[in-house]
Amino acid sequence: MPEQLEFAGQTALVTGGGGGFGRAISTTLAAGGAHICVVDINADAASATAKAVTDAGWSASIHVCDLTDAEAVQQLIGDVVAAHGRLDIAVNNAGIGGAMVPLGEYPVETWHRVLDINLSSVFYCLRAELVAMSADGKGGSIINTASIMAEVAMPTIGPYVATKHAVNGLTKAAAVEYGPHGIRVNAVAPSFSRVGFTAESITDDSAWDAMAGQHALGRSANPQDIAGAVAWLASDASGFVTGDLIKVDGGFTAV
Ligand SMILES: NC(=O)c1ccc[n+]([C@@H]2O[C@H](COP(=O)([O-])OP(=O)(O)OC[C@H]3O[C@@H](n4cnc5c(N)ncnc54)[C@H](O)[C@@H]3O)[C@@H](O)[C@H]2O)c1
Repeated sequence: MPEQLEFAGQTALVTGGGGGFGRAISTTLAAGGAHICVVDINADAASATAKAVTDAGWSASIHVCDLTDAEAVQQLIGDVVAAHGRLDIAVNNAGIGGAMVPLGEYPVETWHRVLDINLSSVFYCLRAELVAMSADGKGGSIINTASIMAEVAMPTIGPYVATKHAVNGLTKAAAVEYGPHGIRVNAVAPSFSRVGFTAESITDDSAWDAMAGQHALGRSANPQDIAGAVAWLASDASGFVTGDLIKVDGGFTAV
């Protein structure tokens, strides 16, 4: 691993750490030397990621938290700083897809659920992380997992598209406000990957084959593609990059 991708002595928090992308991000940052705080509402999933990290000889702790609870998020970040001295890297990655129906039929309850998890939870995390990282003047790097749906749209997932566009805006707002405190805030925009809620929603092999063909590189994303971009954004190698949305989409939006 190049020297600038080393995270020795650093503490990294990964939300949705039990999921497809979260596990790859956790193991990648851990391989660089960071202690990983694996955050998830699903205790079994968080434990499995922590086990993958520690089985490889790296360091992780498990934090079961419902990120839609603003007070619980404040407590979470406070606990992390108390246990590890500071927070260096935060990856706000937890998310859900919601229903797949046209906007005219979209259930209001599901709209609120998608906003709570995909947008409000990112705000709750950001507000606590920004304060924690600026408290000792050392700054840090925050990466939000958006989606190519932060730039384009597709039918039946309107609320998801809206939240990911909003995450892009929130990323820029945080970057502008906290750049002077040495905190960089960026987002990644993955295309489709057959993991987690996406794999559960799209089960048809032929649909995945068709989607692969829509990528310039002829395949959909795998979690390690996303983890590589996140690690770069977390590292000093991207030290002059902030407020950006980095597409990790195999050319999907270029085709
Ligand atoms: N898989 C894809 O095709 C794809 C594409 C673009 C963007 N994304 C984004 O990547 C991120 C990770 O998705 P994934 O594909 O790894 O899905 P995933 O379902 O495998 O992981 C999501 C994780 O978030 C956790 N989570 C959900 N609600 C939570 C809550 N209230 N509090 C705490 N944790 C909660 C889940 O338990 C799960 O472990 C999401 O933000 C998603 O929108 C995914």
